[in-house]
Amino acid sequence: MTMSEKQAPSRSEVGVCYYPEHWPEEIWQRDAEQMASIGLSWVRIGEFAWSRIEPRPGDFDFDWLDRAIDILAQAGLKIVLGTPTATPPRWMVDKHPDMLAYDSSGQPRGFGSRRHYCFAYTPYHDECSRIAGILASRYGQHPAVQAWQTDNEYGCHDTVLSYSESARTGFQTWLRGRYQTVEALNSAWGNIFWSMEYASFSDIGLPVATVTEANPAHHMAYRRFMSDAVVAFNKAQVDAIRAHSDRPICHNYMGRVTSFDHFAVGGDLDFASWDSYPLGFLADRISAPQSHKDKFMRQGDPDFQAFHHDLYRAVGHGRWWVMEQQPGPVNWAPYNPEPLAGMVRLWGWEAVAHGAETVMYFRWRQAPFAQEQMHAGLLRPDSSQAAGYAEAEQLASELSSTEYGEVRPAPIAILFDYDADAAWDIQPQGQGLSYFNLVFDIYRYLRRLGFSIDILPSNHDRLSGYQAIFVPGMMMVSDEVRARLAGLSAQIIYGPRTGAKTSDFSIPEGLPPAHLQALCRVLHSETLPQTAAVNWMGGGQFSHWVDACSSDAEQAFMTEAGKPALISDENSHYLAGWPDFTAFSRLMGWLNDRGGFGWSLDVLPAGLRCRKTTSHVIWINYDDKPATTPAGQQVPPTDIFIESLQE
Ligand code: GAL
Repeated sequence: MTMSEKQAPSRSEVGVCYYPEHWPEEIWQRDAEQMASIGLSWVRIGEFAWSRIEPRPGDFDFDWLDRAIDILAQAGLKIVLGTPTATPPRWMVDKHPDMLAYDSSGQPRGFGSRRHYCFAYTPYHDECSRIAGILASRYGQHPAVQAWQTDNEYGCHDTVLSYSESARTGFQTWLRGRYQTVEALNSAWGNIFWSMEYASFSDIGLPVATVTEANPAHHMAYRRFMSDAVVAFNKAQVDAIRAHSDRPICHNYMGRVTSFDHFAVGGDLDFASWDSYPLGFLADRISAPQSHKDKFMRQGDPDFQAFHHDLYRAVGHGRWWVMEQQPGPVNWAPYNPEPLAGMVRLWGWEAVAHGAETVMYFRWRQAPFAQEQMHAGLLRPDSSQAAGYAEAEQLASELSSTEYGEVRPAPIAILFDYDADAAWDIQPQGQGLSYFNLVFDIYRYLRRLGFSIDILPSNHDRLSGYQAIFVPGMMMVSDEVRARLAGLSAQIIYGPRTGAKTSDFSIPEGLPPAHLQALCRVLHSETLPQTAAVNWMGGGQFSHWVDACSSDAEQAFMTEAGKPALISDENSHYLAGWPDFTAFSRLMGWLNDRGGFGWSLDVLPAGLRCRKTTSHVIWINYDDKPATTPAGQQVPPTDIFIESLQE
């Protein structure tokens, strides 16, 4: 059986994250029985417990973990066992003083919290592979250990980029492998500019502490190197686990952490999972007007979770979970409100609507000590039930008794590319401009128009079958991707900034967009302050980013200044700027006519969203007021409505 054939359960399930090492052993059994009694099927343990599993180097204590696993198993719970590698114990740092990551000011990021390691320090890969293998050999065939999680949230706390000595030497080796000769590197990067040419690979440092910005090609190479280091780090553990266990392996990714290629990490895993904290994300990670943040303060952004659900479904080759679901107020955002009644259940349902196999709440009981004592659990520290408890129970019961169908391919896809995210970050060409925001705006607009959407990697092998595919802002489009897209019958919408650079971060020969010069040529690009815009003739506008294009091809939309806004050649289109919702809706109306798709294009109320499954439409109302579907069905506040497609 290959990994991708490992069976997914047919109905979605609910679970919880649990830390037996935080609690006296006398209450483990009661906890386990109570979890099972409210319909939870899964429990994740172990991911931070290294100092208890191996208190001294090579000196193991498995007794407590054996007992915890047995107690959870006897209660009928299935276990996800985490490798504890995000929290190396103190002795590890003494043993490997060079394992720490360094920040851009040259300071080590030391012991005393978590994630204190540098991905480029390979002796730590070996330590992690060792502990993962030991755990897998002990528990890999245990009937209750049904899945594995590697580490915890790669990249969280800004931990991918590191300016350590191992990063410097590892980067030099990586560059040698990629460019072979230093002359080739100098030429690819354009190092003659400002006399930056190198005489040998060993002269090349990390792109940090330069007087003004370092060469973007240098930054890009370094980001790719660090991303490859994350992939290698993860793979070392995966290989060690697979030597002893055939249970599926995942990692729990984060929301809006884009500092490594998740598709590449996911290539070595059986499924994906991510940690969904809607209120924390709205306060902390979303660019939106304050009025929007205020309106959804206790519900979360209506599109942010769905975006990640769709993204991680692709990262997991169709199989994915929510590994941590917010249960109440968190502790880490700029402000930490309580969710409105109903949201803890609603977030779970939305994940299921997008195909989540399992929704795990974080965490069973609030810890009264250490860093996260202000973070809610399903239980309070005294074991009384917090607000999220009943909602988790309700979700579990509803999922076992409700018909809702299965996730199915959407009519529209957006390609998402981690290299593009890094490239925009390196050269935003304007304050606050980001690839993530551009893609997320397009995703939001599509959801507002009632679409279900798939997010896919650019090298996805099943791009056929979509009515429209959006490729916004993907600065580096390989020959292979371009050729694959050219063969499709879907309407393909490129731009703005798609194909703007070669893979070594130069302007492509013949001007951008690379490989699409027959459609148009981008003569120059401008970026605008928040308050400015370029109007379209007839309504709508571009903001943030505008490409000035020259083309003889069809121009369905123009700016008021008579410049092309959308340039088309059969089913290929170049969108010459960052559209607002009005411009985007007009574009969709025009595509609808061109493709004869029969899209309804109803604009949904501000907080109402939907996702179609094989047999139902699941309506999700993020608003604190009732909302009405286009067909006239009322959806109560912070509630769902499951509409059957059968009639
Ligand atoms: C996640 C993390 C958990 C916990 C949680 C708090 O990012 O994986 O261990 O810290 O946040 O919200």
